[in-house]
Amino acid sequence: MCGIIGVTGRDGCSRILLEGLRSLEYRGYDSAGVAVQTADGLVVVRRPGKLAELEGVLAEREPFGRTGIGHTRWATHGPPTQQNAHPHVDGPERVAVIHNGIIENHEALRAELVARGVTFRSETDTEILAHLVSERIEAGDDLGQATAHVAGRLDGSYSFAVVSADRPDELAAVRHQSPLILGIGDGANFLASDIPALLPHTKVVMPLEDDDVAVLTPDKVTVTDVHGQVVTRPVRTIDWDPVRIQKGGYRHFMMKEIEEQPAAVAATMTGCLTDDGFTIRIPALDALGDRLAQLERLTFVACGTSWHAGLAGKFFIENLVGIPVDVDYASEFRYRQTQAGPGHLVVPITQSGETLDTMVALRQAKQGGSPIVSVVNVPESAADRESDAAIMTEAGPEIGVASTKAFTTQLVALYMLALDLAGRRGALDAAALRERVQPLRRIRYAMEGALRHADAVRDVAHRYADARDFLFLGRGVNYPIALEGALKLKEISYIHAEGYPAGEMKHGPIALIDGDMPVVVVATPGRVYDKVLANIQEVRSRAGKVIAVCAEGDERVAAQADEVLEVPRVDEDLSCLVNVVPLQLLAYFIAEKRGCDIDQPRNLAKSVTVE
Ligand code: M6R
Repeated sequence: MCGIIGVTGRDGCSRILLEGLRSLEYRGYDSAGVAVQTADGLVVVRRPGKLAELEGVLAEREPFGRTGIGHTRWATHGPPTQQNAHPHVDGPERVAVIHNGIIENHEALRAELVARGVTFRSETDTEILAHLVSERIEAGDDLGQATAHVAGRLDGSYSFAVVSADRPDELAAVRHQSPLILGIGDGANFLASDIPALLPHTKVVMPLEDDDVAVLTPDKVTVTDVHGQVVTRPVRTIDWDPVRIQKGGYRHFMMKEIEEQPAAVAATMTGCLTDDGFTIRIPALDALGDRLAQLERLTFVACGTSWHAGLAGKFFIENLVGIPVDVDYASEFRYRQTQAGPGHLVVPITQSGETLDTMVALRQAKQGGSPIVSVVNVPESAADRESDAAIMTEAGPEIGVASTKAFTTQLVALYMLALDLAGRRGALDAAALRERVQPLRRIRYAMEGALRHADAVRDVAHRYADARDFLFLGRGVNYPIALEGALKLKEISYIHAEGYPAGEMKHGPIALIDGDMPVVVVATPGRVYDKVLANIQEVRSRAGKVIAVCAEGDERVAAQADEVLEVPRVDEDLSCLVNVVPLQLLAYFIAEKRGCDIDQPRNLAKSVTVE
């Protein structure tokens, strides 16, 4: 969850670290700090709160140093104070460490160090690392050996990076179930927990594998296992444009990313259309050969917004392919006796490709013999690398903590997966496939149409920004959209919101409805349209305020709703892609009106790499 960055061999190191932390701040924003090598030893500067606090202190002097490490924290052990901020140092302050993850046996190691006379300055699980590395260096290890030795003593998930005043040009780092990527530069080398932090310096990256230990100097990168054996890891070039990690004139990344959705959805289709443009064929799936024809069932595993995409995926696959589909929270899947096996395709869905719960579920299913096809946004992430095949969503870097374009690109990827499987398994003939591909190719224009209603959504948002609770209702493929609308509102505006299948309302939530309760109902054309209209009546009969997402010009809905959020009319299957847009905008404008921190909502982090 925390963001880590390291650089060796670049003048103005303190500024480079700060810039890197700015692009990693979405991983955690409870405190931030840097440790930079100088002629006078290590200079460590840490501040609680947002990165701006650290920035303010560092702005008092010219950028300094050539080698150092930086950290932005999402607190796990100990409150977000200056003392608990990283980097943590050893007693003589000659070793500094930054860490992402949780060290589960930190109490035992801390007790051991205390017994040897070490005094602790923080409540974190991380500080033990600085003392343990320091002890090993005292005992004669070099920085890499000390790091490897300490890693060998740890339980839990972690990636950490170390600098030592005795080795002013060196960084050492280790990865274990938390992401860590090296950036290979010209006369300088880098490490970071996420690719976007590396992009301003290099597009050449080397993702580390679990239990890799890396030692970086300005001219060289060496990777070994924890026993010191050199290992070779492939080097990749990432073609993400660094400009995409900038706000580009927007007040918030979230709005920029909402507006990027039509293009991102179109990009996700690129390469998956056959030459005539009429059929979906996902090249990555070819790797599974005959196994796809033999599938008996499919399970999506995911968390949060990605789990909502899985619910829509269930609708697509059951309707178009005709095999049974489960949608599991990754955090639940991993603790059950799940039935993996060759006929059971497991599809992890993850923007980051690093969410720990999802990764553990992936590994468990793989071990049980299931083929794994991930839907993933970040290239070279753990999910991309560990799956039999990966369907890449081409959302590009998503920085806003509230997921938007990652969600809609996941929906498109899952619809394409359904069409591809239906074609390969003969569940749909060529004509039926073609009939569905054409509207899919046009869907970006409908999403652009939905965005053109943003001003109207803002007006509605401002009228309801003071509500205490919201209910979101939808049916069929728009039930996940109701859940997603509620999650967006909760995350960024802190208003309590519930998403429900509209038909279930009468079984309980209807008791909540009164004149103070706005109820957002997704009421676009489709099989359940009349049923949803009946649900609107049920809300109105209890004085609830109805905000309906409806097709442009739909007078039946307009006559019954207090407010309408209009969207272009599209096929029911694809309506989820369009209908979610006004709900993202509604959450955004309500949060903006309430003065919330939209891109960095409290308590959240973009990528959840702890259990
Ligand atoms: O990177 P992932 O897709 O695996 O992340 C899953 C969830 O943590 C994520 O979707 C989260 O719910 C977002 N904050 C939703 O906006």
